[in-house]
Amino acid sequence: MCGIVGYVGPDEATDFLLEGLRRLEYRGYDSSGVATLHNGDLAVTKTAGRIDQLASALKQHPAPGHIGLGHTRWATHGPANDENAHPHIGGQRVLALVHNGVIENFRVLKQKLTEKGYTFGTSTDTEVIAQLLDYELHRCQEVEDDELRVTDPYHVLVQAMQATLSQLRGTYGLAVVFRDWPNVILAARLGSPLVIGIGDGEHFIASDQSPLVGRADKIVFLADHELAVVTAESIRVVNRDAGDVPHDVKLLEVDEAQVELDGYPHFMLKEIFEQPETVRNAMRGRLDHDQATAVFGGLNLNAQQLRAVDRMVLTACGTSWHAGLVGEYMLEAFARVPVEVEYASELRYRNPPLSSNTLLFAITQSGETIDTLAAMREVKRKGHPVLSICNVVGSTIARESDGGIYLHAGPEIGVASTKAFTSQCVVFALLALYFGRLRHLSYEAGLRVIDELQALPELVEEALTTNGQVRKIAAKYSGCDNFLYLGRQYNFPAALEGALKLKEISYIHAEGYPAAEMKHGPIALVDENTPSVFIVPRGGVYEKVLANMEEIKARGGPVIAIVNSGDNEAAEIADDVIHVPAVADFAQPIITAVPLQLLAYHIAVLRGCDVDKPRNLAKSVTVE
Ligand code: F6R
Repeated sequence: MCGIVGYVGPDEATDFLLEGLRRLEYRGYDSSGVATLHNGDLAVTKTAGRIDQLASALKQHPAPGHIGLGHTRWATHGPANDENAHPHIGGQRVLALVHNGVIENFRVLKQKLTEKGYTFGTSTDTEVIAQLLDYELHRCQEVEDDELRVTDPYHVLVQAMQATLSQLRGTYGLAVVFRDWPNVILAARLGSPLVIGIGDGEHFIASDQSPLVGRADKIVFLADHELAVVTAESIRVVNRDAGDVPHDVKLLEVDEAQVELDGYPHFMLKEIFEQPETVRNAMRGRLDHDQATAVFGGLNLNAQQLRAVDRMVLTACGTSWHAGLVGEYMLEAFARVPVEVEYASELRYRNPPLSSNTLLFAITQSGETIDTLAAMREVKRKGHPVLSICNVVGSTIARESDGGIYLHAGPEIGVASTKAFTSQCVVFALLALYFGRLRHLSYEAGLRVIDELQALPELVEEALTTNGQVRKIAAKYSGCDNFLYLGRQYNFPAALEGALKLKEISYIHAEGYPAAEMKHGPIALVDENTPSVFIVPRGGVYEKVLANMEEIKARGGPVIAIVNSGDNEAAEIADDVIHVPAVADFAQPIITAVPLQLLAYHIAVLRGCDVDKPRNLAKSVTVE
């Protein structure tokens, strides 16, 4: 949600800034801008619209300079127009600032600054930070110690930044360049990620690792309450409320192929097709045949502590929440532990009674979703162990949880989550196996689950062969404005996820429901222009779902059915069928996710939608 880049070094800053913004565009794409320093002045170029528009503006008015910042915006305060785009200027062109996050008390601060004579050209919360920093900078300069200025030329900037940050309520990842200090970038974070890339005589700043690929192989993650003083030669990290703190240098974990389209028209399609590999990666090294269980390196709780768990709460948002629902079914079936799945945005403000042996799992692709982070912190504060299931290594949720499991799915760039969902489901299957084997699950049953899991990558590959058939079905129904998605048991969360995929990238209204529940209301929506997508592989409730299909057909509604290969019974009722390989009940959402993702993808493409950057959305939701 909003992307930030920064550069200081010997090269032209805009080369990296533009290239970096393109890699971060998935984080927000309402407007974008850059600021560079050249000949003692700030050059700021910003436009509403996509990065291509910024690139054209920069072609007409180049922004030279060896230090600069860039930003791609997902609007929170103020519409997406040229003025509200970042960077924002502080004072009389004294500084330029980019920001990711939300400042909740910006109105109060704005009022105070207005009383001091500041004027504002935009309706953003970010401009308030820029003007406040200018104000604090002047104040600190007035009392600056001359000796200190000589030994530490950036001392006054750090002081002003500390004074500014301590007045902000909300979240920020921000970076600033100063007209009168042309060699330094200041960066700071609280709740919105920032990473510093270490190059050869140059440094980079970015909201995540993807812009750094090919430019830096070592990185430093900024932690909450830290600010960094970055020049071409040095990085210094300072605590917001104290002095210098040491920083760990880590290796960049992302490679070039993972952040390029690699011949695919969209990242979403590329990521759908990566799933045989990502499913394999999610279980690599985690299956123990001897003990018929799963093994995890980073849970940081011993078997005794885990055996004592008497309740689990899974918390997440969106697609990750759907994976949590799949996890609930798996954990309850294999381990017989009561599980609840909570929207993180609700859990964070609720005060549910939690028994002392409650274990929380935060599920998140990005590891930065603010609601999930806040819910996790709240439960942790009350003394419960919190574990994360996360894709992005080193992300805030991964670092703040007591332990966890990485998905190892590689960067997910398409805004609509695909491969992360199936990897989350695989990790839940592993967890259910692990907890099951700590409790009730027999050795034979454990081995069966392992066999079923090991078969999955190839079966996902087989499910991908439906692509051509799904494209044809998509063409038949792409003109419809309402869809129902129906499934039962493990395929109920799959239905929710199928509906979410369709609505977020094609803007078609879609509802996911437990198939039998549709009689209690949604069946009123059924008509000849409202297709129902049934997820009906063979399994415990197969016959029941066929009856639900008949009910829809009896009311003239078209039915698209996702069925097992060789299933003629369902095919006789449905108008269109998609065949997927048969798997055990618990693994069905992993297999049926594939045609559901493809259906949403093709419909969106046929409707001319921007699949990787759907309107109003952004990857990684770091605001409430
Ligand atoms: C939908 C989607 C979102 C995310 C949600 C949580 O395709 O991607 O619903 O699942 O914003 O994000 P993470 O998993 O990063 O916490």
